[in-house]
Amino acid sequence: MWLSNIITLLFCISFTAARSQRPYEPPHYSNSKNIIELNPLNFDDFIYSSNYTTIVAFYAPWCGYCKQLRPEFEKASKKGHNYAQFAAVNCDEEKNQKLCAANNIKGFPTIITYRPPKTFRENIERKEQFATQPYENKRDAASFVDAMKGTLKSFVKKLKLKHLPKYLKIEESSKIPRVILFSDKFTASATYKSIAIDFKDLLEFTYVHIDNDDTANYVKELIPDFQYSEGSPVLLVVDPKKGIVTMEDKLSKYNISKFLTQFAEPSEGEFSERHKIIEGIKNGKVKSFLHYKKKQARKQAEKQLDKDEL
Ligand SMILES: *[C@@H]1O[C@H](CO)[C@@H](O)[C@H](O)[C@H]1NC(C)=O
Ligand SMILES: *[C@@H]1O[C@H](CO)[C@@H](O)[C@H](O)[C@H]1NC(C)=O
Repeated sequence: MWLSNIITLLFCISFTAARSQRPYEPPHYSNSKNIIELNPLNFDDFIYSSNYTTIVAFYAPWCGYCKQLRPEFEKASKKGHNYAQFAAVNCDEEKNQKLCAANNIKGFPTIITYRPPKTFRENIERKEQFATQPYENKRDAASFVDAMKGTLKSFVKKLKLKHLPKYLKIEESSKIPRVILFSDKFTASATYKSIAIDFKDLLEFTYVHIDNDDTANYVKELIPDFQYSEGSPVLLVVDPKKGIVTMEDKLSKYNISKFLTQFAEPSEGEFSERHKIIEGIKNGKVKSFLHYKKKQARKQAEKQLDKDEL
């Protein structure tokens, strides 16, 4: 196995030298829904401004192993984009060659993950705080998805039943609405963790483990319209202004995220401004994150001003 890898590696390298003689082959992921083709104009911003891990396939369109990777990476991104950012860099393109060299790409495809810390330190550049690691697991869709699930940082807290009555009483002065998920699970799911990342610092995420009917009945005493049955979790928000708001739709990442937008505007995910920029970059209407970054900086400055006035 390793011998064939080395042979392919040599093969790919020697082919790089002969680049000009090969017929043009289009980029692999430019029509992909959940994978973005990056270039030097957006690479750093896309990766380092996110609170998700990014997995990047550095490839060349003509390389055999890259063609093999393509359907698996594509398939992985369908589910995996909920747990990580999926990206690719076409190292065959002139404009990307410095980027590929800077990332030490010696053969194709090389897959690298860029993983953020749980909390960023303020006086160090964000980029410096990411862990950059080659992806060395199996290259099939399920393995990619599992690995990316494992990279999710948890900003979800388990709420003890005895703390629930107090937690449901929120002060008007409290700025951050509280999200509570009631389910029969011991731990928070990857999906729930990812929603907490999308709304990081904007909403507080907790869950209550409903272990039996007594627990469910106890919660019902606290929340009159609490309709729980085993296997169908309940999600509600304790909002300082609106009080307790229970979600009615079927729980899915899309539905929950949409429901939560009435309480806060997420910084990542389907319903975020950032998502629109990413879509713009993918369809060629936007070149970089420049304007988005300026807008974010303005928002941040306004927030700071609000704080100062208090
Ligand atoms: C990432 O986390 C930081 C710090 O918690 C937060 O300010 C920011 O809005 C989050 N999302 C993005 C896309 O920056
Ligand atoms: C969202 O909720 C609606 C209404 O309950 C449901 O029909 C739909 O399948 C849900 N969507 C997803 C993506 O789960």
